[in-house]
Amino acid sequence: ESSIPSVQALMIKNPDKLTVPQCFLRADQEPPNFSNGGAHHFPSIPVPTIDLECLLSEEDTNSQLDNLRAICKEWGIFQLVNHGIGSSLLEKLKHDMVEFYKLPIEEKMRYQRKPGDAEGYGSVAGSDGILDWGDRKTLESYVQELQKLSMELLGAMGKALKMDAKEMEEMFEDGRQSVRMAYYPPCPTPGQVMGLAPHSDASGITILHQVNGVDGLEIKKDGVWIPAHILPDALLVNVGDILEIMSNGVYRSVEHRATVNSVKERISIAFFVSPKFDAQVGPATSLISPENPPLFIRVGMEEFVKTFFSHKLNGKSYLECMKIDNS
Ligand code: SIN
Ligand code: FE2
Repeated sequence: ESSIPSVQALMIKNPDKLTVPQCFLRADQEPPNFSNGGAHHFPSIPVPTIDLECLLSEEDTNSQLDNLRAICKEWGIFQLVNHGIGSSLLEKLKHDMVEFYKLPIEEKMRYQRKPGDAEGYGSVAGSDGILDWGDRKTLESYVQELQKLSMELLGAMGKALKMDAKEMEEMFEDGRQSVRMAYYPPCPTPGQVMGLAPHSDASGITILHQVNGVDGLEIKKDGVWIPAHILPDALLVNVGDILEIMSNGVYRSVEHRATVNSVKERISIAFFVSPKFDAQVGPATSLISPENPPLFIRVGMEEFVKTFFSHKLNGKSYLECMKIDNS
């Protein structure tokens, strides 16, 4: 892992070189749709919007929840507006992240992530950077606010399924959270590389913020990759594998990937919400009945995480491996 070059360092050293090293080229994948420096081949489709204020208000609750349920089922992703995270906090976060990535490489390397470390700056599996830095106040406030927000969202997502509220709470309170910050430098040949390879998240939910307002996320919907256009200041919320399992397959853990473009740098921060290590991951018991048998096996969270990252699944996702064949 330590020998993977920093993508940013590479581009700074060779800003006008029109090739990228072989290890970043992905001939095996459907090319991104962002391949003309930001102009798409496909029109980007607006991801459905959820207004948190409306969702949490007492008005029209049933139709709000029906709408949320349908979106989580058909899309597995939505953009959240009126989310209550102050614009001054988002501005501060952007300022800090932009300034951090502008630091000379030698300076950033002081925060370098060593193999096995959970935190630090550097490339991970050839894709991008994770970082952590000295002044963590802004990040701490952001994380605190997202924690509260994620419990509200999970509550509504469970209610929309008529899941026992306790079951959702117990699963996620005092759970594990992690943050991943990514910097995608402009790439001279964006059609040949991928910012982040296709995957679904292992989390319950993930809340993504496009820090400098540059699009780049693509989601797979009905077998087709579509670029997601996100409103400035909206937060992108996606269903992860654990929520798909808890919902007994009603909600969809959406497959997604990050593309890059030749003009603009892109900065994102993802907040992953997961159960604690001693939780049991499986379909919510309040959703299971003889008519609705469990579609997934139940495993401990610790085993879930270990297996998810073990790469011993013969190319299958762990979600596939957990499916029960009821036929
Ligand atoms: C992610 O999948 O973790 C987020 C990708 C992005 O930066 O858009
Ligand atoms: Fe992801």
